[in-house]
Amino acid sequence: MAKAFSGIQPTGEIHLGNYIGALRNWRPDEGSYYCVVDLHSMTMPWDPDEMRRNTRATAAHLLALGLGEPSRVFVQSQVPEHAELSWILTCLGRMGELGRMTQFKSKGRGRQDVSVGLFAYPLLMAADILLYRVHEVPVGEDQKQHIELTRDLALRFNSRFGPVFTVPEPRISEVGARVLSLRNPTEKMSKSDPDPNSKILLTDPDDVIRKKIMTAVTDSGREVYYDPEQKPGIANLLEIASTLSGVSVEEIATVYRDKGYGAFKGGVADIVIAAVHPLRERVLELLGNPSEIDQALESGREHAHAEAKPLLDAVKQAVGLLVP
Ligand code: AMP
Ligand code: TRP
Repeated sequence: MAKAFSGIQPTGEIHLGNYIGALRNWRPDEGSYYCVVDLHSMTMPWDPDEMRRNTRATAAHLLALGLGEPSRVFVQSQVPEHAELSWILTCLGRMGELGRMTQFKSKGRGRQDVSVGLFAYPLLMAADILLYRVHEVPVGEDQKQHIELTRDLALRFNSRFGPVFTVPEPRISEVGARVLSLRNPTEKMSKSDPDPNSKILLTDPDDVIRKKIMTAVTDSGREVYYDPEQKPGIANLLEIASTLSGVSVEEIATVYRDKGYGAFKGGVADIVIAAVHPLRERVLELLGNPSEIDQALESGREHAHAEAKPLLDAVKQAVGLLVP
Protein backbone atom coordinates (compact mmCIF):
# COMPACT_ATOMS: atom_id res chain seq x y z
CA MET A 1 0.00 0.00 0.00
CA ALA A 2 1.53 3.31 -1.11
CA LYS A 3 1.55 6.08 1.47
CA ALA A 4 0.28 9.41 0.20
CA PHE A 5 0.50 13.06 1.15
CA SER A 6 -1.50 15.91 -0.28
CA GLY A 7 -2.49 19.43 0.65
CA ILE A 8 -5.18 21.97 -0.05
CA GLN A 9 -5.19 25.69 0.68
CA PRO A 10 -7.84 27.24 2.93
CA THR A 11 -8.30 30.18 0.58
CA GLY A 12 -11.96 29.73 -0.27
CA GLU A 13 -14.64 27.16 -0.71
CA ILE A 14 -13.89 23.75 -2.14
CA HIS A 15 -15.19 23.31 -5.67
CA LEU A 16 -15.82 20.49 -8.09
CA GLY A 17 -12.37 20.98 -9.66
CA ASN A 18 -10.71 20.30 -6.32
CA TYR A 19 -12.90 17.23 -5.85
CA ILE A 20 -12.47 15.73 -9.31
CA GLY A 21 -8.81 16.73 -9.81
CA ALA A 22 -7.57 15.88 -6.35
CA LEU A 23 -9.79 14.97 -3.37
CA ARG A 24 -11.55 12.06 -5.04
CA ASN A 25 -8.15 10.37 -5.44
CA TRP A 26 -7.16 10.81 -1.80
CA ARG A 27 -7.43 7.42 -0.10
CA PRO A 28 -7.92 6.97 3.64
CA ASP A 29 -5.00 4.54 4.03
CA GLU A 30 -2.99 4.15 7.21
CA GLY A 31 0.19 6.24 6.98
CA SER A 32 -1.30 8.76 4.53
CA TYR A 33 -1.58 12.43 5.51
CA TYR A 34 -3.86 15.16 4.18
CA CYS A 35 -3.04 18.68 5.13
CA VAL A 36 -4.85 22.03 5.21
CA VAL A 37 -1.93 24.18 4.07
CA ASP A 38 -2.62 27.46 5.85
CA LEU A 39 0.99 28.65 5.55
CA HIS A 40 0.69 28.43 1.77
CA SER A 41 -2.36 30.69 1.93
CA MET A 42 -0.16 33.46 3.33
CA THR A 43 1.76 33.73 0.07
CA MET A 44 -0.99 35.98 -1.30
CA PRO A 45 -2.76 38.72 0.71
CA TRP A 46 -5.21 37.23 3.25
CA ASP A 47 -7.76 38.17 5.88
CA PRO A 48 -7.18 36.63 9.36
CA ASP A 49 -10.86 35.97 10.13
CA GLU A 50 -11.44 34.40 6.74
CA MET A 51 -8.34 32.24 7.20
CA ARG A 52 -9.63 30.91 10.54
CA ARG A 53 -13.06 30.19 9.06
CA ASN A 54 -11.74 28.60 5.88
CA THR A 55 -9.22 26.41 7.70
CA ARG A 56 -12.02 24.78 9.73
CA ALA A 57 -14.32 24.55 6.70
CA THR A 58 -11.62 22.98 4.53
CA ALA A 59 -10.84 20.47 7.28
CA ALA A 60 -14.57 19.68 7.53
CA HIS A 61 -14.62 18.82 3.82
CA LEU A 62 -11.66 16.44 4.18
CA LEU A 63 -13.19 14.79 7.23
CA ALA A 64 -16.56 14.48 5.49
CA LEU A 65 -14.77 12.60 2.72
CA GLY A 66 -13.66 10.08 5.33
CA LEU A 67 -9.98 11.03 5.39
CA GLY A 68 -9.65 11.40 9.16
CA GLU A 69 -9.18 7.71 9.93
CA PRO A 70 -6.92 5.75 9.57
CA SER A 71 -5.25 8.38 7.33
CA ARG A 72 -4.93 11.73 9.09
CA VAL A 73 -6.10 15.28 8.48
CA PHE A 74 -4.16 18.11 10.08
CA VAL A 75 -3.32 21.80 9.81
CA GLN A 76 0.14 22.64 8.43
CA SER A 77 0.99 25.50 10.83
CA GLN A 78 0.30 23.24 13.84
CA VAL A 79 3.22 20.98 12.96
CA PRO A 80 6.28 23.26 13.19
CA GLU A 81 8.55 20.83 11.31
CA HIS A 82 7.04 22.06 8.02
CA ALA A 83 8.33 25.60 8.42
CA GLU A 84 11.67 24.36 9.75
CA LEU A 85 12.39 21.92 6.94
CA SER A 86 11.21 24.54 4.48
CA TRP A 87 14.07 26.82 5.58
CA ILE A 88 16.66 24.10 5.08
CA LEU A 89 15.28 23.38 1.59
CA THR A 90 15.24 27.13 0.88
CA CYS A 91 19.00 27.04 1.29
CA LEU A 92 19.25 24.15 -1.21
CA GLY A 93 16.78 25.41 -3.82
CA ARG A 94 18.06 27.59 -6.62
CA MET A 95 16.75 30.93 -7.83
CA GLY A 96 16.73 29.68 -11.43
CA GLU A 97 14.64 26.57 -10.83
CA LEU A 98 12.11 28.46 -8.71
CA GLY A 99 11.88 31.22 -11.29
CA ARG A 100 10.80 28.60 -13.85
CA MET A 101 7.68 27.58 -11.92
CA THR A 102 4.67 28.42 -14.07
CA GLN A 103 2.49 29.18 -11.06
CA PHE A 104 4.97 31.84 -9.92
CA LYS A 105 5.32 33.15 -13.45
CA SER A 106 1.56 33.58 -13.83
CA LYS A 107 0.99 35.19 -10.43
CA GLY A 108 4.19 37.08 -9.73
CA ARG A 109 6.80 37.44 -12.41
CA GLY A 110 7.95 40.96 -13.08
CA ARG A 111 6.04 42.35 -10.11
CA GLN A 112 7.86 43.93 -7.20
CA ASP A 113 4.84 43.89 -4.88
CA VAL A 114 4.34 40.11 -4.51
CA SER A 115 5.66 38.42 -1.37
CA VAL A 116 8.94 36.54 -1.15
CA GLY A 117 6.74 33.69 0.12
CA LEU A 118 5.06 33.38 -3.29
CA PHE A 119 8.47 32.70 -4.84
CA ALA A 120 9.53 30.27 -2.08
CA TYR A 121 6.12 28.48 -2.05
CA PRO A 122 7.30 25.27 -3.81
CA LEU A 123 10.02 24.78 -1.16
CA LEU A 124 7.42 24.74 1.60
CA MET A 125 5.41 22.29 -0.51
CA ALA A 126 8.49 20.08 -0.90
CA ALA A 127 8.97 20.16 2.88
CA ASP A 128 5.32 19.11 3.38
CA ILE A 129 5.76 16.06 1.20
CA LEU A 130 9.27 14.98 2.22
CA LEU A 131 8.55 14.99 5.98
CA TYR A 132 6.31 11.92 5.68
CA ARG A 133 8.37 9.52 3.52
CA VAL A 134 5.41 9.08 1.20
CA HIS A 135 5.49 7.47 -2.24
CA GLU A 136 2.60 9.26 -3.87
CA VAL A 137 1.21 12.76 -4.13
CA PRO A 138 -2.32 12.81 -5.61
CA VAL A 139 -2.90 16.26 -7.17
CA GLY A 140 -4.38 18.04 -10.17
CA GLU A 141 -2.33 18.78 -13.27
CA ASP A 142 -1.36 22.31 -12.09
CA GLN A 143 0.81 20.88 -9.28
CA LYS A 144 2.89 18.49 -11.39
CA GLN A 145 5.81 20.89 -11.85
CA HIS A 146 6.03 21.49 -8.08
CA ILE A 147 6.29 17.76 -7.47
CA GLU A 148 9.01 17.43 -10.05
CA LEU A 149 10.92 20.13 -8.17
CA THR A 150 10.33 18.20 -4.93
CA ARG A 151 11.86 15.12 -6.55
CA ASP A 152 14.88 17.11 -7.76
CA LEU A 153 15.44 18.53 -4.28
CA ALA A 154 15.12 15.11 -2.63
CA LEU A 155 17.62 13.56 -5.06
CA ARG A 156 20.04 16.49 -4.66
CA PHE A 157 19.81 16.25 -0.88
CA ASN A 158 20.24 12.47 -0.82
CA SER A 159 23.28 12.52 -3.07
CA ARG A 160 24.96 15.29 -1.08
CA PHE A 161 24.03 14.28 2.51
CA GLY A 162 22.93 10.64 2.38
CA PRO A 163 19.65 8.82 1.73
CA VAL A 164 17.27 10.61 4.09
CA PHE A 165 14.34 11.38 1.79
CA THR A 166 11.91 9.09 -0.03
CA VAL A 167 11.55 10.36 -3.61
CA PRO A 168 7.80 10.77 -4.28
CA GLU A 169 5.77 10.40 -7.51
CA PRO A 170 2.86 12.59 -8.56
CA ARG A 171 -0.46 10.74 -9.01
CA ILE A 172 -2.58 12.59 -11.55
CA SER A 173 -5.72 11.10 -13.07
CA GLU A 174 -6.08 11.01 -16.83
CA VAL A 175 -9.56 12.45 -17.06
CA GLY A 176 -10.53 15.44 -14.91
CA ALA A 177 -7.04 16.57 -13.90
CA ARG A 178 -7.97 20.05 -15.10
CA VAL A 179 -11.62 20.95 -14.63
CA LEU A 180 -12.47 24.20 -16.42
CA SER A 181 -14.49 27.24 -15.40
CA LEU A 182 -18.18 26.99 -16.31
CA ARG A 183 -18.12 30.62 -17.47
CA ASN A 184 -14.85 30.55 -19.39
CA PRO A 185 -13.89 27.03 -20.46
CA THR A 186 -10.34 27.98 -21.38
CA GLU A 187 -9.44 28.79 -17.75
CA LYS A 188 -9.36 26.32 -14.89
CA MET A 189 -12.12 26.32 -12.28
CA SER A 190 -10.55 28.28 -9.43
CA LYS A 191 -11.22 29.20 -5.81
CA SER A 192 -10.04 32.73 -6.51
CA ASP A 193 -12.48 33.35 -9.39
CA PRO A 194 -14.91 36.01 -8.06
CA ASP A 195 -17.80 34.80 -10.32
CA PRO A 196 -19.81 32.25 -8.28
CA ASN A 197 -21.30 30.83 -11.50
CA SER A 198 -17.83 29.77 -12.70
CA LYS A 199 -17.67 26.93 -10.18
CA ILE A 200 -19.78 24.36 -8.38
CA LEU A 201 -19.14 24.24 -4.65
CA LEU A 202 -19.45 21.01 -2.70
CA THR A 203 -21.87 22.92 -0.44
CA ASP A 204 -24.13 24.13 -3.28
CA PRO A 205 -27.79 23.05 -2.98
CA ASP A 206 -29.20 20.87 -5.78
CA ASP A 207 -31.14 23.66 -7.51
CA VAL A 208 -28.07 25.93 -7.55
CA ILE A 209 -25.97 23.16 -9.11
CA ARG A 210 -28.62 22.58 -11.78
CA LYS A 211 -28.83 26.27 -12.62
CA LYS A 212 -25.03 26.66 -12.88
CA ILE A 213 -24.79 23.69 -15.26
CA MET A 214 -27.78 24.69 -17.40
CA THR A 215 -26.22 28.17 -17.88
CA ALA A 216 -22.64 26.92 -18.39
CA VAL A 217 -20.96 28.53 -21.41
CA THR A 218 -20.80 26.25 -24.45
CA ASP A 219 -20.31 26.89 -28.16
CA SER A 220 -23.15 27.71 -30.54
CA GLY A 221 -23.47 24.22 -32.11
CA ARG A 222 -26.03 21.51 -31.28
CA GLU A 223 -24.23 18.21 -31.50
CA VAL A 224 -22.66 16.64 -28.42
CA TYR A 225 -19.23 15.10 -29.02
CA TYR A 226 -15.82 15.23 -27.33
CA ASP A 227 -13.50 17.81 -28.88
CA PRO A 228 -11.55 19.83 -26.30
CA GLU A 229 -10.17 22.17 -29.00
CA GLN A 230 -13.37 23.08 -30.81
CA LYS A 231 -15.87 22.47 -28.00
CA PRO A 232 -14.07 23.09 -24.69
CA GLY A 233 -17.29 23.79 -22.76
CA ILE A 234 -18.96 20.54 -23.89
CA ALA A 235 -15.72 18.58 -23.37
CA ASN A 236 -15.47 19.94 -19.83
CA LEU A 237 -19.04 18.85 -19.00
CA LEU A 238 -18.39 15.44 -20.56
CA GLU A 239 -15.29 14.97 -18.41
CA ILE A 240 -17.10 16.07 -15.26
CA ALA A 241 -19.97 13.65 -15.97
CA SER A 242 -17.62 10.81 -16.85
CA THR A 243 -15.43 11.06 -13.74
CA LEU A 244 -18.44 11.30 -11.43
CA SER A 245 -20.46 8.49 -13.03
CA GLY A 246 -17.68 6.11 -14.07
CA VAL A 247 -19.20 5.96 -17.58
CA SER A 248 -16.75 6.80 -20.37
CA VAL A 249 -16.80 10.17 -22.16
CA GLU A 250 -17.58 8.38 -25.45
CA GLU A 251 -20.58 6.52 -24.06
CA ILE A 252 -22.11 9.65 -22.58
CA ALA A 253 -21.49 11.56 -25.81
CA THR A 254 -23.19 8.79 -27.80
CA VAL A 255 -26.31 8.93 -25.62
CA TYR A 256 -26.72 12.70 -26.08
CA ARG A 257 -25.19 13.15 -29.52
CA ASP A 258 -28.38 14.32 -31.30
CA LYS A 259 -30.49 15.28 -28.32
CA GLY A 260 -29.31 18.91 -28.05
CA TYR A 261 -27.36 20.79 -25.39
CA GLY A 262 -30.35 21.31 -23.08
CA ALA A 263 -30.99 17.57 -22.62
CA PHE A 264 -27.26 16.93 -22.28
CA LYS A 265 -26.80 19.57 -19.59
CA GLY A 266 -29.83 18.23 -17.73
CA GLY A 267 -28.22 14.78 -17.72
CA VAL A 268 -24.90 16.21 -16.50
CA ALA A 269 -26.72 18.09 -13.72
CA ASP A 270 -28.38 14.83 -12.57
CA ILE A 271 -24.98 13.14 -12.34
CA VAL A 272 -23.33 16.04 -10.49
CA ILE A 273 -26.21 16.37 -8.03
CA ALA A 274 -26.18 12.63 -7.31
CA ALA A 275 -22.46 12.86 -6.47
CA VAL A 276 -22.42 16.16 -4.56
CA HIS A 277 -25.67 15.89 -2.57
CA PRO A 278 -24.47 13.26 -0.04
CA LEU A 279 -21.11 15.04 0.35
CA ARG A 280 -22.88 18.32 1.08
CA GLU A 281 -25.02 16.70 3.77
CA ARG A 282 -21.96 15.35 5.55
CA VAL A 283 -19.99 18.60 5.24
CA LEU A 284 -22.88 20.64 6.67
CA GLU A 285 -23.36 18.19 9.52
CA LEU A 286 -19.69 18.46 10.49
CA LEU A 287 -19.64 22.24 10.15
CA GLY A 288 -22.43 22.30 12.72
CA ASN A 289 -20.22 20.32 15.06
CA PRO A 290 -16.93 22.27 15.45
CA SER A 291 -15.74 20.25 18.45
CA GLU A 292 -15.70 17.11 16.29
CA ILE A 293 -13.55 18.94 13.72
CA ASP A 294 -11.16 20.20 16.42
CA GLN A 295 -10.82 16.74 17.94
CA ALA A 296 -9.98 15.15 14.62
CA LEU A 297 -7.45 17.91 13.88
CA GLU A 298 -5.81 17.44 17.27
CA SER A 299 -5.44 13.72 16.66
CA GLY A 300 -4.10 14.47 13.15
CA ARG A 301 -1.61 16.96 14.58
CA GLU A 302 -0.28 14.42 17.09
CA HIS A 303 0.19 11.71 14.48
CA ALA A 304 1.78 14.07 11.97
CA HIS A 305 4.15 15.52 14.54
CA ALA A 306 5.20 12.04 15.70
CA GLU A 307 6.10 11.15 12.11
CA ALA A 308 7.71 14.47 11.10
CA LYS A 309 9.93 15.05 14.16
CA PRO A 310 12.32 12.08 13.68
CA LEU A 311 12.59 12.78 9.96
CA LEU A 312 13.51 16.42 10.61
CA ASP A 313 16.05 15.29 13.22
CA ALA A 314 17.62 12.98 10.63
CA VAL A 315 17.83 15.91 8.21
CA LYS A 316 19.44 18.14 10.84
CA GLN A 317 21.92 15.42 11.70
CA ALA A 318 22.78 14.88 8.03
CA VAL A 319 23.37 18.57 7.26
CA GLY A 320 25.46 19.22 10.36
CA LEU A 321 23.03 21.03 12.67
CA LEU A 322 23.39 20.05 16.32
CA VAL A 323 20.35 18.03 17.37
CA PRO A 324 19.57 18.65 21.07
P1 AMP B 1 -5.94 24.48 -4.38
O1 AMP B 1 -7.39 24.86 -4.52
O2 AMP B 1 -5.08 25.31 -5.27
O3 AMP B 1 -5.46 24.41 -2.96
O4 AMP B 1 -5.81 23.00 -4.97
C1 AMP B 1 -6.05 21.82 -4.23
C2 AMP B 1 -5.95 20.63 -5.16
O5 AMP B 1 -6.99 20.69 -6.16
C3 AMP B 1 -4.64 20.55 -5.94
O6 AMP B 1 -4.24 19.19 -6.03
C4 AMP B 1 -4.98 21.07 -7.31
O7 AMP B 1 -4.18 20.51 -8.32
C5 AMP B 1 -6.43 20.60 -7.46
N1 AMP B 1 -7.20 21.51 -8.34
C6 AMP B 1 -7.46 22.83 -8.12
N2 AMP B 1 -8.19 23.35 -9.12
C7 AMP B 1 -8.41 22.34 -10.00
C8 AMP B 1 -9.11 22.23 -11.25
N3 AMP B 1 -9.76 23.27 -11.79
N4 AMP B 1 -9.12 21.03 -11.88
C9 AMP B 1 -8.48 19.95 -11.35
N5 AMP B 1 -7.80 19.99 -10.17
C10 AMP B 1 -7.76 21.15 -9.50
N1 TRP C 1 0.34 23.79 -3.73
C1 TRP C 1 -0.84 22.99 -3.62
C2 TRP C 1 -2.01 23.70 -4.30
O1 TRP C 1 -2.09 24.89 -4.36
C3 TRP C 1 -1.20 22.71 -2.19
C4 TRP C 1 -0.12 21.97 -1.48
C5 TRP C 1 0.69 22.44 -0.51
C6 TRP C 1 0.22 20.60 -1.69
N2 TRP C 1 1.53 21.48 -0.08
C7 TRP C 1 1.26 20.33 -0.78
C8 TRP C 1 -0.24 19.61 -2.54
C9 TRP C 1 1.87 19.07 -0.72
C10 TRP C 1 0.36 18.34 -2.49
C11 TRP C 1 1.40 18.09 -1.58
O2 TRP C 1 -2.89 23.04 -4.73
